[in-house]
Amino acid sequence: MASINFVILTVSDTCYAKINIDLSGPKLEENINQTFPNSSILAKEILPDDKLMISQFLTQWSLKSNVDIILTTGGTGFSSRDVTPEATRAVIDREAPGIANAMIAKSMQITELAILSRAVCGIKYQTLIINLPGSAKGATECFGFIKNILPHAVAHLRDNRDIIKREHALLQNVSPSKVKINQVAFRNRNSPYPMIEVEKGLEIIFAAVPKKHVTEKIDISQCLYRVLAENVYAIEPMPPYNASVKDGYAVKTSDGTGIRTVVNVVGAGDLSGNDVITSGEVIRISTGAIIPLGADAVVQIEDTKLIEASPDGSEEIQIEIMIAPTLYQDIRLVGSEIAKNELVINSGNVITSGHIGVLATVGKTVVSVYKRASVGILSTGNELQPPYEELKKNHIRDSNKLALLNLLKQYTYYADDCGIAQDNPNSVKLALSAAFSRHDVVITTGGVSMGEFDVIKNVLIDDFAATIHFGRINMKPGKPTTFATCTFENKLKILFGLPGNPVSAMVTTLLFVIPTLRHLENNPQTSLLTVPVILGEEFIVDSRPEYARVRLTRDGNLPTAYSVGNQISSKINSFVNADALLVIPSKKVHENNFKKSEILNALLLNTLST
Ligand SMILES: *[C@@H]1O[C@H](CO)[C@@H](O)[C@H](O)[C@H]1NC(C)=O
Ligand SMILES: *[C@@H]1O[C@H](CO)[C@@H](O)[C@H](O)[C@H]1NC(C)=O
Ligand SMILES: *[C@@H]1O[C@H](CO)[C@@H](O)[C@H](O)[C@H]1NC(C)=O
Repeated sequence: MASINFVILTVSDTCYAKINIDLSGPKLEENINQTFPNSSILAKEILPDDKLMISQFLTQWSLKSNVDIILTTGGTGFSSRDVTPEATRAVIDREAPGIANAMIAKSMQITELAILSRAVCGIKYQTLIINLPGSAKGATECFGFIKNILPHAVAHLRDNRDIIKREHALLQNVSPSKVKINQVAFRNRNSPYPMIEVEKGLEIIFAAVPKKHVTEKIDISQCLYRVLAENVYAIEPMPPYNASVKDGYAVKTSDGTGIRTVVNVVGAGDLSGNDVITSGEVIRISTGAIIPLGADAVVQIEDTKLIEASPDGSEEIQIEIMIAPTLYQDIRLVGSEIAKNELVINSGNVITSGHIGVLATVGKTVVSVYKRASVGILSTGNELQPPYEELKKNHIRDSNKLALLNLLKQYTYYADDCGIAQDNPNSVKLALSAAFSRHDVVITTGGVSMGEFDVIKNVLIDDFAATIHFGRINMKPGKPTTFATCTFENKLKILFGLPGNPVSAMVTTLLFVIPTLRHLENNPQTSLLTVPVILGEEFIVDSRPEYARVRLTRDGNLPTAYSVGNQISSKINSFVNADALLVIPSKKVHENNFKKSEILNALLLNTLST
């Protein structure tokens, strides 16, 4: 870890007025020196409990690009002069409440008064600001609780800083686009791209983008749905010892039925494991406990009778075995579930909760998985504005971005918001440059059909020397779906140009983007789960294969599909009640409409099933 640069601010009217001397500031400095011997303390300051002075100080120091952490001490209590949290909140861009919560939770173990802490922690630019209590004892204790996470937090903030620096440099050097848009009269009146079938489209994608074999090691608590990149072997057998399956008695089978002396008792987790029985003896045993030496079966309590107990009932002296035991009855033998060195999970598995249980069982807490592609989503359109703002005249809210981010999330993938580009080549070029500099896969929505402002394809070709692998797909909705690759900063970048219509964007994300993300991380199952469904009503055939949003009910043996209603591709709410996409073959394949009770395939939505 490189050295961390700290600033310490003591907030106290009395220290500022020199009525008291500041003990907390120097104590924190000492702690920092001890914990992070290579760190630097760039500034130490004492200020009164004055909101404006505090926030000016915080802003001024967080503006400096080399300040990693500002620690404040004081002014977090309930007195009317205590305003450090308010001053901090006024400055930070983003809160980091976990740090404050952790300090409170841990301090609670020392004093209940910790409940009264109002500390705020957060990030301004690339600087972490942390409010600590005013007393030297409280400040040091709290610093101790969080010190271990600080290098990690700083590393993240510095990464951001490097990325932002690199991006600024990059974006300042982006030249204007080479695409000319003022020759509207000469635009193509027919799409120059051949119409391609969906299956062919996927083939083209998989051929154009190699699977990634880069792996990373992650903790098993974080590995759900990732693709395993190593064979996992059991380091130890499971169970690790001969274990009882029942509450009862450990016996010798050769003794058969009859009266026995209870010589001892063994419970689950008992450490000794040195107990021995000989003929005529039993040991009382509980579920999960280790089988004593000499025993080769367990007789459950239900198959025994008490013969003699100690007078106070605290001990059993003799019992009777009513049913003769068989060899190894109710014993889980060492390694009977998992043998030592057995292959327990194959590389290539998509890790489920069940796998995680097995990994935990065999003590494999860090696993190697395939790295995922990083994904960014860029919206294009002069009419678009972020959904959070009041709607301007002749504008619409950008619904695609959040819908797609969350659709990907439903399938366990995460994407970043790359903003909104205007419908002009310079804006698209700039936004794509920024998106490519951060991401492997960029999804754009809008700007790919035949309109004169539909500039994405031209910008890709002229400015990024991209290969457009396809620009039209024989499907409804989603015809203008475009797939391109290019080299940017020496890396292969993948672009999906999805139609701007909300439903088209979602359908094509399901059909093309998710399979591609699965392909890139070596997931053996790339397509969504398809199941046969019975049609609950007539479905009209179109000249293109159609992916109709349907609701499924469970009236019969198979799910029954009903249209969710209006299937116009701009009608986003047609997705709201959809359980599946019904795959309706085109007129070319099936001349007549599909009638009620006929069977077709449907792609299940809202399911992670692979
Ligand atoms: C912390 O370390 C710096 C640099 O070595 C030193 O100048 C300073 O006196 C130390 N402060 C305390 C309180 O130990
Ligand atoms: C401090 O820096 C020195 C020299 O750069 C390095 O050898 C040492 O490992 C560092 N110590 C810590 C605790 O980071
Ligand atoms: C487990 O039980 C089997 C069968 O009685 C025995 O051969 C083996 O030695 C036992 N293993 C341990 C570790 O006690």
